[in-house]
Amino acid sequence: MNQYIYKLGHCEELAIAEFASLCKKAKQDVKYGWLMSDTEINVNISGGLVYGGDIVGKVTIDENTKENLFNALYEYITANVADLKKLGISISKEYAKDVLSLAKKAGSKKINILMDKKPNYGNWKGLKNWILVEKIDNQLLIIKLTSYSDQQFWTQLDSFLPNSDMKRGIINLKLARSLLNLTDNKKIYDPLCGMGRLAVAGIDIKESFVLSDLDDSCLQDCEKNVEYAKSFWSRKKDFKGEVKYVTFAQDARTLDDVEQDLSRCSVVTEGYLGYRFSTSPSRQEIERELEIQQKMWRDILASCKEKNIKEVVFCLPYYQKKGANTLPEFIDELAEEIGYKLVRFSGKTYVLYSREKTNVGHYIVKVILQK
Ligand SMILES: C[S@@+](CC[C@H](N)C(=O)[O-])C[C@H]1O[C@@H](n2cnc3c(N)ncnc32)[C@H](O)[C@@H]1O
Repeated sequence: MNQYIYKLGHCEELAIAEFASLCKKAKQDVKYGWLMSDTEINVNISGGLVYGGDIVGKVTIDENTKENLFNALYEYITANVADLKKLGISISKEYAKDVLSLAKKAGSKKINILMDKKPNYGNWKGLKNWILVEKIDNQLLIIKLTSYSDQQFWTQLDSFLPNSDMKRGIINLKLARSLLNLTDNKKIYDPLCGMGRLAVAGIDIKESFVLSDLDDSCLQDCEKNVEYAKSFWSRKKDFKGEVKYVTFAQDARTLDDVEQDLSRCSVVTEGYLGYRFSTSPSRQEIERELEIQQKMWRDILASCKEKNIKEVVFCLPYYQKKGANTLPEFIDELAEEIGYKLVRFSGKTYVLYSREKTNVGHYIVKVILQK
């Protein structure tokens, strides 16, 4: 059976949950920032996987490691030499010199060796044939890279978007894409859409977006962003460009006013994380914010239920204070009271996502309507 391996992005928990959602029946084993599985996907579908490949060989670490590794590499390169004339190899320094001559002997003509370093996106873009030798527990894995997340695309898209409410960077859009992948549904409703980051990040993986926000003024910015993103995506050769979207002003707490049939959509939203504290919030401030969130989500979830929305993926704020986190503990009970049940991600009912140097993180949950 083939085995595949993926490098997890900066929020490992989210990438794992996303992979599990994308590949329902996949077996997965997570170690040292890697996810190993029996299922293959192109990492570009995801927001949270950085690169991925096939495990084409395994060498147990013992007194014969070197010899076995060299044999395995030589065999693999010889068997695939037609495709590996130009080859990149990422390997520890101790083996680098010998592996270079081995690859030449096996028939590769141009070899790029990275010592104790992984290929970055630039390396991948320049040369699509990379072999990595990676130590995991008592084995060396020989990995042939097959896909690499197009970092350049995401950085450019984020920095060129006409409007933004956040510091620009690749992470914002990738979080949005991961959230979208937590549901299979191709019809998405974001009732707190802000400037439309969710739609911008998922144009190629979803069919339609219904986007609304309480703040009328940001809807125009949102439309400009989505239009810009559509044209940006259309530069990609495998993009069909068929995504549909509508925007309208709406308080998410009172969806009963909405004429649209939302029952076929899943709600996915970054949510509204409340006040953006620039310094660490006090206990009182945290309590106040969580109280506001509790009230808001009681109404939003009740509204979603009224509209017969089956799945809701959303984020609540959590607060990071000197290593100790304050989590919004109300949500399990609240969801159940309204008639939704929380989904478990690797045993927990939430995923914590945070950016560096922030006081407020995303507490990601998914709830499913109970019959
Ligand atoms: C900061 S944005 C979240 C990020 C957003 N996804 C983006 O791409 O910009 C949160 C949005 O929630 C909206 N909001 C807050 N309370 C709301 C409510 N009760 N109903 C609808 N929108 C609300 C705010 O106007 C704001 O635009």
